[in-house]
Amino acid sequence: EKGGFPSFMAKEINDQPAAVADTLLARTDTAGKLILDEMNIDEATLRTIDKIVIIACGTASYAGQVARYAIEHWCRIPCEVELAHEFRYRDPVVNARTLVVAVSQSGETMDTIMAVRHAREQGAKVIAICNTHGSTIPRESDAALYTHAGPEIAVASTKAFLAQITACYLLGLYLAQLRGNKFPDEIANIMGELQVMPEKIQKVLDGSDKVRQIARWMADSKSVLFLGRHVGFPVALEGALKLKELAYIHAEGFAAGELKHGPIALIEPGQPVFVIVPSRKGRDSLHSKVVSNIQEIRARGARTLVIAEEGDTDVLPYADEVISVPECPTLLAPLLTTVPLQIFAMELASAKGLDVDQPRNLAKSVTVE
Ligand code: F6R
Repeated sequence: EKGGFPSFMAKEINDQPAAVADTLLARTDTAGKLILDEMNIDEATLRTIDKIVIIACGTASYAGQVARYAIEHWCRIPCEVELAHEFRYRDPVVNARTLVVAVSQSGETMDTIMAVRHAREQGAKVIAICNTHGSTIPRESDAALYTHAGPEIAVASTKAFLAQITACYLLGLYLAQLRGNKFPDEIANIMGELQVMPEKIQKVLDGSDKVRQIARWMADSKSVLFLGRHVGFPVALEGALKLKELAYIHAEGFAAGELKHGPIALIEPGQPVFVIVPSRKGRDSLHSKVVSNIQEIRARGARTLVIAEEGDTDVLPYADEVISVPECPTLLAPLLTTVPLQIFAMELASAKGLDVDQPRNLAKSVTVE
């Protein structure tokens, strides 16, 4: 059932174009308007929402962190992302005008279940973004939007993460449409761009030899850092989490802008640092800011492993290795830039002889608080 792959994780990474395509499938009508038929909260209520809170744990929380950039930009509704176990115990301000989005692959994560219950007790509406039909979180929520990633067997989440980002984006686009968004052209454009993401993810998979080779060279690493800005920041966090979980290597993700506020002290000659570079066509000066960060750490001896858009020649002078991904709108880039980091963690763990499907001390669903 591993479909000829050496592990479930390898298969699930390879399943990602289909996971995203299936999550997008049949969700637009002929006019391109989104239809989310699992949405059982009435539209009048959704128009009154004045705050969105995404609650989740681990990888699912990073999908939420990615989605926040898109949801706030498209919907102009304040959006917070919080770890479910922190949300539950800090007496959060939520009420009938709060939309809580609970993101969970399994639908059985106890921390997230407790947070959903708490939010509903305060009168908030809850939408579950979940990969498992009929599981507790969607059953206890007001509405569910299912990710169609298919069963995820490997303990470390991969395809569910890409599907969660996709589903959160559909929700954001839906809310933007419903509330009379200010960017109709951008929304139509993003819908079109989302449809071609599965092909682009496939291109990243087809071109993954280089990152596999880098992972094998780096099997003895003691520590790897990950830097990103904007949507690249949660991707950096996810890259670090995958490496910790699978390869048992110290790994940390940082916001690139935070570097000079402390983490740059960690940079010493030979320290490997992955940097996720935003698109050159992106917003403001995101791209050039991240390129300067690469320059700063390179000058201090870091070994820079740069994930950048195809044809990005600006990074070349400061990159020890470049991993290219296809061009796409800034907000969609996590669907591509995460993939080499998943493969990196998997290959490095395999090179160390570890079981990538069953990392030590971890369970697929965490059903205790
Ligand atoms: C990491 C991972 C975990 C889960 C987290 C939430 O690879 O798999 O961090 O993302 O335990 O699980 P779900 O999504 O089932 O609520």
